[in-house]
Amino acid sequence: MDTRVLHLTGAAVKGEVDIPGDKSISHRAVMFGAVANGKTTIKNFLPGADCLSTIACFSRLGVRIEREGSSVTVYGEGFDGLKEPSALLDTGNSGTTTRLMLGILAGLPFHSVLAGDESIAKRPMSRVVNPLREMGAAIDGRNQGEYTPLAVRGQSMKGIRYNLPVASAQVKSAILLAGLQADGDTIVIEPAKTRDHTENMIQQFGGTVEVDGNFVKLSGPQSLQAADIMVPGDISSAAFFLAAGAIAKKSSIILKNVGLNPTRTGIIEVLKQMGANMEIIPHEHQTFEPAGDIVISSSDLKGVEIGGDLIPRLIDEIPIIALLATQAAGKTVIKDAAELKVKETNRINTVAEELSKLGAKIIPTDDGMIIEGKAALHGADVQSYGDHRIGMMLAVASLIADGEVRLSDAGAVEVSYPQFFEHLYALAQHS
Ligand code: S3P
Repeated sequence: MDTRVLHLTGAAVKGEVDIPGDKSISHRAVMFGAVANGKTTIKNFLPGADCLSTIACFSRLGVRIEREGSSVTVYGEGFDGLKEPSALLDTGNSGTTTRLMLGILAGLPFHSVLAGDESIAKRPMSRVVNPLREMGAAIDGRNQGEYTPLAVRGQSMKGIRYNLPVASAQVKSAILLAGLQADGDTIVIEPAKTRDHTENMIQQFGGTVEVDGNFVKLSGPQSLQAADIMVPGDISSAAFFLAAGAIAKKSSIILKNVGLNPTRTGIIEVLKQMGANMEIIPHEHQTFEPAGDIVISSSDLKGVEIGGDLIPRLIDEIPIIALLATQAAGKTVIKDAAELKVKETNRINTVAEELSKLGAKIIPTDDGMIIEGKAALHGADVQSYGDHRIGMMLAVASLIADGEVRLSDAGAVEVSYPQFFEHLYALAQHS
């Protein structure tokens, strides 16, 4: 396992960083390009391991896809252009690939099998499999379809009206993707608004979808047309450097090209509430997903309470918010976030365990955690457990920890941010 020894203690972070493409949007751009008719071009695609898994799966389904760095071209021939794969579809570490592809494969007239790594094998799939079965899908897997490997025998599908039991954009998206091939109306009602990149993408690819608050409706079947997609930077990746800028001493950094879709900007609201010195400069020319630059500098932070509808808008940022909270005066309470238990790792446990090793005062709860600040952090042996966001959070912690942070399984960052360490070292060098 690759270990990184980080001795960045006391470094200031200065300069600017171009934030790499959004993971959620990159996945969807490839998927929609693959099922649309014509040549789709994608710029600023994220060449992280998860999105490469999506490309590999669609290539295996017979779609011609060319990639040069962060430029991707997808030659789609509609849903009918996808062909029965002769081998397993390997979704790697990617929950988005696994769950959204189920929605696409459920309605296609062939057999396919999806499986990923050890972490994917533990992640709940019945949240997607059950509504798809109600739409007519034939899907089987371990424990009645709860776990991968999942075998799909495509069927003709019918629309559904579905109240999502959990606020999950992956489940919503899988149902909408199936709905595009199904007969009749598909309606998804969310308990709290989750990221709406699938809805945006349907419109970009010439489809029709109606959105009214937490209510999403489309009529199937629909055929989609190729599009040119510019992917904004990933706010979930930017979050690590937002935190670095706020907690490292004498720091000031500019994060360029950060996606600012309101369903993803919970971290900005939390940073504001904590009292961060931060300025947001929206881009003059907005594309289908809003973006802008963010300037952030060393800040005196205070603890906050986070819960309710805000949680889906920052679900992936909770590990780095926990680190921010260790440097904020007073108590931070994170609640209503039980979903953290079913991410790449059980993030309630991994965040609490690893940050405690560095000296944080953090108590895991059933649906979140309670963090007491300000804590003086120190060096220690820590690990990512193969979870990219845990790895990046611990690496940022090394800026303020007194002593070396030895991070094992550091390569996990490849999943969403292959240039993470390069960017971290470049910013920290300016001190
Ligand atoms: C994602 C949705 C979220 C998020 C994941 C990406 C997406 O998962 O945690 O990193 O692209 O739709 P859930 O839908 O399971 O909450």
